Amino acid sequence: MARVYVTRDWFPEAQRPLHQRHDVRMWTGPDTPSRDVLLSEVREIDGLISIGSDDIDADVITAGRRLRVISQFGDGLEHVDLDEATRRRIPVGHTPDVLSETTADLAFGLLLAAARRIVEGQAFARDGRWKAHAHLDLPGVDVNNKTLGIVGLGRIGSHVAKRARAFNMRVLYHSRTRHVQVESLLTATYQASLHEMLPQCDFVVLTAPHTPDTRNIIGREEFALMKPTSILVNVARGALVDEKALYDALHTGQILRAALDVTSIEPLPLDSPLFSLDNILVMPHIGSAVPSTRERMMSMAVEQMLLALDGKRIPNCANPGVYKHVEVADVSAVHGVQRSPITPPGHLRGQ
Ligand code: 8YV
Repeated sequence: MARVYVTRDWFPEAQRPLHQRHDVRMWTGPDTPSRDVLLSEVREIDGLISIGSDDIDADVITAGRRLRVISQFGDGLEHVDLDEATRRRIPVGHTPDVLSETTADLAFGLLLAAARRIVEGQAFARDGRWKAHAHLDLPGVDVNNKTLGIVGLGRIGSHVAKRARAFNMRVLYHSRTRHVQVESLLTATYQASLHEMLPQCDFVVLTAPHTPDTRNIIGREEFALMKPTSILVNVARGALVDEKALYDALHTGQILRAALDVTSIEPLPLDSPLFSLDNILVMPHIGSAVPSTRERMMSMAVEQMLLALDGKRIPNCANPGVYKHVEVADVSAVHGVQRSPITPPGHLRGQ
């Protein structure tokens, strides 16, 4: 029986198979376990299930003297020191794909909400500002037939592109790699240069992962290239946007509006200048916050943990270099497991 620590007590049903087979401790307190708790809990465990707000840095990994696997509830892994995990030959699993459609729904919802001022409209009606004959309250911008630029046509980005097609949008994308198959299926056009794409876009949606290359990928120079009527949506990571430059761009009307599900610091501090603007929507990082999706994420994190503890290779491993001689597991039972970085065309067509 291995020892496992889970940094949340969420979805007990999904966690059950782990509890049945192993000695599991969970953080049951509010928020996240403190650093001291994490450093102490990790000391005697074989497996750790963590989430995006846990800082799994080199100190935590080093403190886990017998740690054999880290299984992340979530897709993004920027809070896990992958280099240190790889050096220790600890596989790091994550849960891509299962949350892509859910997050794409939110991205498109934010795009529509910002374009048509849906959140402002609610306050407007409730505050008694709605007068019978005002014919042009809260003027919005059309989404249909406009140009959308997606930064990062990965799993989430391709699902955003699919939604955009239904609105008859022209879809451009800028990505580290060109995805010809997805491109033709979604009639999306590859733009090698972000700077050439931005001036063409009415909407820019960020879905790229946070890497050294994407940090501040949208900053002063980029805002200067965007249309004054354009809207920026970020469902990726706050670090992709230079928030000081975003404040200035929104304040001076360099762009029209922004809708963020993610910010550089989360929760965004209440004294953030961004909150003083009325042309921004800020969501509390709810991209995957649909219970059925999050339950699948927990099941997948648990299943990958079980595989790893059995000495099997986990399918969604972020540092596959740790495997040299490990038997490949039968992954057919694992929820939503796909090896390709892009949801395959059949999947897209089937929706
Ligand atoms: C997660 C996310 O739900 O999976 C990710 O990368 O950003 C979120 O949707 C959250 O980070 C919990 O781990």
